[in-house]
Amino acid sequence: MSLLEDTMNTDLLGITNHPSKEMSELARRDPGIVDLTIGEPFFGPPPMVLQFLREDIARHADGPWSYAPSAGTAELRRAIAGYIERTAGVEVDPEREILVTNGAAQALWLAVFTTTCPGDDVLLTDPTYMLYERLVLSMGRRPVRVPVAPESGFQLDAATFASAVTPKARALVLDSPGNPTGAILGRECLREIVQTASELGIHVIHDEVMDFTAFPHGHASVLGVAPDLGLVASVNSFSKRFGVPGWRIGWLVAAADVIAQCTKAQTLSTLGCASPLQLSLARALAHPDTDTYLSRRVDQLVTHAEAAKDAWTRIGFPPRSSGGRSGFYLLLDARPFYKARLQHRDDPAGAIGDKVARTLLEEHRVAVVSGTAFGGTVQDCVRISVAGPPHRALDAARRIGSVEPGREGEKAQI
Ligand SMILES: Cc1ncc(COP(=O)(O)O)c(C=O)c1O
Repeated sequence: MSLLEDTMNTDLLGITNHPSKEMSELARRDPGIVDLTIGEPFFGPPPMVLQFLREDIARHADGPWSYAPSAGTAELRRAIAGYIERTAGVEVDPEREILVTNGAAQALWLAVFTTTCPGDDVLLTDPTYMLYERLVLSMGRRPVRVPVAPESGFQLDAATFASAVTPKARALVLDSPGNPTGAILGRECLREIVQTASELGIHVIHDEVMDFTAFPHGHASVLGVAPDLGLVASVNSFSKRFGVPGWRIGWLVAAADVIAQCTKAQTLSTLGCASPLQLSLARALAHPDTDTYLSRRVDQLVTHAEAAKDAWTRIGFPPRSSGGRSGFYLLLDARPFYKARLQHRDDPAGAIGDKVARTLLEEHRVAVVSGTAFGGTVQDCVRISVAGPPHRALDAARRIGSVEPGREGEKAQI
């Protein structure tokens, strides 16, 4: 440790990026690499969002340049409350129970920061979205992983959750629909988890950023199964639904006391979120055409995902989960590809997912994320994003499937 490091935040210093982060950054810089690491939808914002943005900017003589309130504009909080009533069937108070955040990432950060103290345990499923573990570690809390098996559709149930609870557990962070698995928690299952957690005094933070992809399959929100906001929190965002991940606008719904503390932390860290974006997003979220527009987009995503799933299965990567329903990611079993193409090599020890991800990048110029990014249970998998332009995942499969010069002994199709 250098002298300077000695004086810095040791929790943060102890956290290293997963190698997939570097791969993803490399892929962004090099157009010759087919990048399947990031879940950015092929569609940009719905045209109405851009039209509203232009109108909102033109309408204000001085422009909406001022700071927005720390908790978010009243219009956007009202539109979010309307969305929750429409989709989860519950009323929340836009004034006291909703906070507009810089994406779901900040909402997650604020929710964990506010509901736990340094040294507390935060339960996370394994596998789950890679951000959670690092954000928990970054604030001096301890992540406790709860394995969920592919046989159970990667779903957590109340009994498994209860048996994993530690004396210092204060929060559970769940994503449903899940990343990378696409798993959707059933309503009854979620209700039992929430009830068990509330009996144990544990907050349940539900990351719902993919909810819109699961409505046809009966998405259940933590807000719709809990008797009141009590110890539950819901995290959501515009990044995926409106194809605007770069705008960094999301939201958090929780009990008024939690939101009050999160708003304080929001003020201390960022003062708030971009004001003109909040106006146009509020109008679009409340617009009657939005749900139809989104369901058409989701149908397209799922069709693309199905085509990608077939193509990747043919080259030795069968799906490891029912994923693909979300239309954003596929979690693929890398073992058949590994056995056919890599096992014969004099290979150092390591997880199959890591070795396959490295080979795909170095030899085929295709960037994917190793399953190790999501936990220990899917180390022999890779995750591909199928949300980008539809040809992208198919082009990548073609690259990998074709035999390169000097490798004629290897089969193109496995
Ligand atoms: C499950 C999940 N939660 C949160 C995020 C981050 O969302 P945002 O862009 O709104 O911060 C992502 C991004 O991929 C995600 O997959």
